[in-house]
Amino acid sequence: MQEKIKEILTKAKQRILDADSMQLINEIRVRFLGKNGEITALLKSLKDAPADQRPKLGKLINDLRGEVETILIEHEKNIAEREKQKKLKEERIDITLSKNNRKIGALHPLNKVIRDICYIFIGLGFEVKDGPEVELDYYNFEGLNIPADHPARDEQDTFYINDNILLRTQTSAVQVRTMEEQKPPIRIVCPGKVYRPDDDASHSPMFHQIEGLVVDENITLCDLQGLLDAFAQEFFSSVTKTRLRPSFFPFTEPSVEVDLSCVMCGGKGCSLCKGTGWIELLGAGVVNPRVLEYSGIDSKKYSGLAFGLGVERAAMIKYGIPDIRLFFENDIRFLKQYR
Ligand code: DAH
Repeated sequence: MQEKIKEILTKAKQRILDADSMQLINEIRVRFLGKNGEITALLKSLKDAPADQRPKLGKLINDLRGEVETILIEHEKNIAEREKQKKLKEERIDITLSKNNRKIGALHPLNKVIRDICYIFIGLGFEVKDGPEVELDYYNFEGLNIPADHPARDEQDTFYINDNILLRTQTSAVQVRTMEEQKPPIRIVCPGKVYRPDDDASHSPMFHQIEGLVVDENITLCDLQGLLDAFAQEFFSSVTKTRLRPSFFPFTEPSVEVDLSCVMCGGKGCSLCKGTGWIELLGAGVVNPRVLEYSGIDSKKYSGLAFGLGVERAAMIKYGIPDIRLFFENDIRFLKQYR
């Protein structure tokens, strides 16, 4: 019987160590310690052993039982832990979210330029004004001293909705609306979309302008140049200079074309300024007294200055952008550069 006990112990140890699941451990427990198990059977067979050996054998069998029980419990713990780890690994949920997958948007370069320019004028005491894009002929033309037969109408081909209503060709229309509503002193900038039937590398049928208007007592051409110098030095660079050239607009008298010293070569002459050292930036002038009078402002007491800046043009000069269409193609690779 002692042989048998040793044999069972060896067998049970081997089986337990080989077991790799709780199910096998349970089967082993039944097989050795269950009601019909091998160790239980040994105990039952004690009655057939010689009486003097029974206590000793009984103790051996009980020790065997205890040892098998201990090893089972020990190994059971290992397997339970292993199964838990396996389950945790299999059911793992990735709760992290890579921050690199989130694309962060930005203002369109034109909106950024409009904001930058408006902030500069706000800093100079200006107010930002808005006006309709679908406009009456009166505000876009008549009120600006451009009557129906005026040749200036040909220079700004127009999208008409009917004889009286059009898509505004210039933000100058907001000047007239403002002067009708507001009495001097007036200091406004008006950013917005304007429309003309042109389409090539430097013209788009829809583009943006920023109109400026100052009406007060004793406003002169000197104020205009001082104002535009301050703006150009803030927006382009602190060494930028401006130059006025005589021009013509029906709503200003005198009228000027304002040039910038070239932002690329500083005035020496390069491909951007076509060797002249200057770049044409905007149209401006002293408000024609007739325009003041049309809107009910006394032109003997008040005078004004006005300017109209192309936003795309200003952005193209500042950032060296070669083609106006780039602004409207929505190519992320282009737009991303101006974040
Ligand atoms: N409205 C003109 C244009 O679109 C630009 C302009 C010129 C505006 C002179 C002005 C100005 O206010 O005084 O070409």
